[in-house]
Amino acid sequence: MENYSNLTVMTHPLIQHKISILRNKTTGCKQFRELVEEIAILIAFEATRDLPLTDTEVETPICKTKAKIIGGKKLTVVPILRAGLGMVDGVLSLVPSAKVGHIGLYRDHETLKPVEYYFKVPPEIVNRQVIVVDPMLATGGSAVDAIDSLKQRGVTDIKFMCIIAAPEGIKALCEAHPDVKVYVGTVDEKLNENGYIVPGLGDAGDRIFGTK
Ligand code: PRP
Ligand code: URA
Repeated sequence: MENYSNLTVMTHPLIQHKISILRNKTTGCKQFRELVEEIAILIAFEATRDLPLTDTEVETPICKTKAKIIGGKKLTVVPILRAGLGMVDGVLSLVPSAKVGHIGLYRDHETLKPVEYYFKVPPEIVNRQVIVVDPMLATGGSAVDAIDSLKQRGVTDIKFMCIIAAPEGIKALCEAHPDVKVYVGTVDEKLNENGYIVPGLGDAGDRIFGTK
């Protein structure tokens, strides 16, 4: 796979360990959901590393002191429905004041092309940093389209977080949106003929919501 300057692949052992449990077909719905949320926290920790700090002053029980707090743009988390919903609480546990938008996309099973059925984001989203979340980056069609939709509405500061990516999806996303920083839990081998990631974890939406 090519190197992309906008791509960060996680190496933390906790992330790798949790993804291995996620992949296991015997992992049930409850544990799957918990793991998706925990992995989202760990990836969000990295994705928020470059948030700007501003100076403030606090008074400790001992004295007044200069201190740093997060400044700059406020965050909005945007899950791609459905499976992206599983990552939202993880990001919110690190950034509780973030707002949440939703983009509804499903992949047409024959063409594998994404079809948008829902778009609702906070009104001031153009002034915010947006983190788009979806556990799976397969062909990349859903992520590319979701980010296109945000850009068409004037959003300029966008990051994307996923748990498992196929090389095909990374190429499609990093090349379509070189200005978007992409954070990936792990990179798998390939896509199969049905557009599923191999070895992957199956259908993330079905495993989170128990629909299969
Ligand atoms: C899955 C996944 C991504 C998309 C990835 O959603 O959550 O959104 O597929 O595939 P792509 O990179 O090839 O576009 P799906 O379309 O199965 O919808 P669901 O979450 O509603 O089940
Ligand atoms: N969507 C999923 O949920 N899993 C895949 O492997 C590919 C797309």
